[in-house]
Amino acid sequence: NLIDKLIINRYYLSLQGDIKMSEFIKEVEKRRTFAIISHPDAGKTTLTEKFLLYGGAIQQAGTVKGKKNSKHATSDWMEIEKQRGISVTSSVLQFNYNGFCINILDTPGHQDFSEDTYRTLMAADCAVMVIDASKGVEEQTRKLFKVCTMRNIPIFTFINKMDREARDPYQLMEEIEQELGIDTCAVNWPIGSGKEFKGVYERNDKEIIRFIPVDGGRKEVDTKIMKFDDPELVNELDDELYNKLQDDIELLDIAGNNFDLEKVREGKLSPVCFGSALTNFGIEPFLKHFLTMTTTPLPRSTGEKIIDPFSEDFSAFVFKIQANMNKAHRDRMAFFRICSGKFTKGMEVYHYQGGRKIKLNQSKQLMADERQEVDEAYAGDIIGIFDPGIFSIGDTITTGKTKFAFEGIPTFAPEHFSLIRNKDTMKRKQFVKGVEQIAKEGAIQIFTELGGGMEEIIVGVVGVLQFEVLEHRLKNEYNVEIIKQPLPYQYIRWVKEGCDLSSLNLSSDTKKVQDLKGQHLLLFTNEWGVRWASEKNSGLELLEFSKN
Ligand code: G4P
Repeated sequence: NLIDKLIINRYYLSLQGDIKMSEFIKEVEKRRTFAIISHPDAGKTTLTEKFLLYGGAIQQAGTVKGKKNSKHATSDWMEIEKQRGISVTSSVLQFNYNGFCINILDTPGHQDFSEDTYRTLMAADCAVMVIDASKGVEEQTRKLFKVCTMRNIPIFTFINKMDREARDPYQLMEEIEQELGIDTCAVNWPIGSGKEFKGVYERNDKEIIRFIPVDGGRKEVDTKIMKFDDPELVNELDDELYNKLQDDIELLDIAGNNFDLEKVREGKLSPVCFGSALTNFGIEPFLKHFLTMTTTPLPRSTGEKIIDPFSEDFSAFVFKIQANMNKAHRDRMAFFRICSGKFTKGMEVYHYQGGRKIKLNQSKQLMADERQEVDEAYAGDIIGIFDPGIFSIGDTITTGKTKFAFEGIPTFAPEHFSLIRNKDTMKRKQFVKGVEQIAKEGAIQIFTELGGGMEEIIVGVVGVLQFEVLEHRLKNEYNVEIIKQPLPYQYIRWVKEGCDLSSLNLSSDTKKVQDLKGQHLLLFTNEWGVRWASEKNSGLELLEFSKN
């Protein structure tokens, strides 16, 4: 087992008494990095904010997400987000709690940006799924969850809004199991809901945490913990609730899934906690459970070898590129997940894909609602590096003697295609630059005819809202207006390098194109065309996503 080996390795290093090394190991051991997913309005922003509140990163709730009109304050880098009230981009926040250093990666709630969610999940070691207790599994939860399972990471469930009328907790857990195909295990259990919400029963400690609603949840709440047979509790709960709780506990022990940490870490069993983010209830218990079940930063693979996060050599990869972080300067920031070693500001690294050494000067980290200059960061952390246009999604930077690249982040197959042209032909340069830059950030995918120029570009997107983002950004950032013509393609397949496309036997409506990296691919209008291509051309390998 790889993790065991790494731990033994670490143990020997500590025996050697290398103090500098052991300080470094302590820092990495403190790190926990997770993504947070939910259907819009389930309470992701509120929960994130309450984590920050408990971590002391903010003094009062309400600072990250203001009132409705200033919603998504942390990520309102784009007008379109504000107009539509959706979060297009994801942000990263760091806070400390009980000696841990926790990185939260927010994900866009809209399914049209599920590719962005996938990339964000690539940077996370586990995910927290927030579910509205009155609604259960919703459309977006389903879609985002699917993306989560592609990564096989542990998923922790927080069932939120217990202070409102909620559905039956058994039903909710069953729905998660059936709709999402993951086993669940209740870590705690709610006593009533809505006006009758009395708190949760902690199954491990066999204790009850009483719900004491205060002041709209702006400050941390006092907790009252009681034993199950505490006469005060028996008094406080009416007979019906007390008896129901007793039955529930018995039933859970007999019929519920047993807790199994191995399964949790394999992403096959999701621990479930109940609470109410708005009133701060259940946040701390959730954090505590979560922290005992999650691991230190996980090792990452280069395809040939595994990189130990505790190795002193620094390595990181780009999972996200974000333009317009600062409207005044129109800058681009490349977000890196640090996979091993320690980052120090100004350090020199080797950029594998660029094939040269570069200095990492302008580095940022998000703490609560502020972006701060970061001087040091460790494996598990996320840093934003100013990008003069040299980085692409998936790029690797390293400091060690051996040069390597982490396994690429797959590109999702786009499902919608349009041909775009520049309205004003005099602005060709801006048009090409804009489209290429936006494609490099991974916000769209672009294709051109084999050997063709950039006058007409085929744009492929996973969700149609991405077209809107493209049009909006070209107009606002590059002063370019486009003519967009929808194309009938529905399926896309990459072909293996070296395959001669001209000799292929294809249906007449199949289009041969190349992507930004010069890889060849085929666009089909229907499934029949895909089948024709593979049946009529023996040995032709059609790939559903590009690994580069
Ligand atoms: P999201 O990021 O997942 O989209 O959800 P968000 O946190 O913005 O929460 C959506 C709405 O649900 C907000 O109300 C928020 O106050 C409310 N909410 C979140 N957690 C709880 C909870 O535990 N209990 C209850 N009762 N409500 C909760 P809003 O009216 O849309 O916004 P606001 O005016 O309160 O800011």
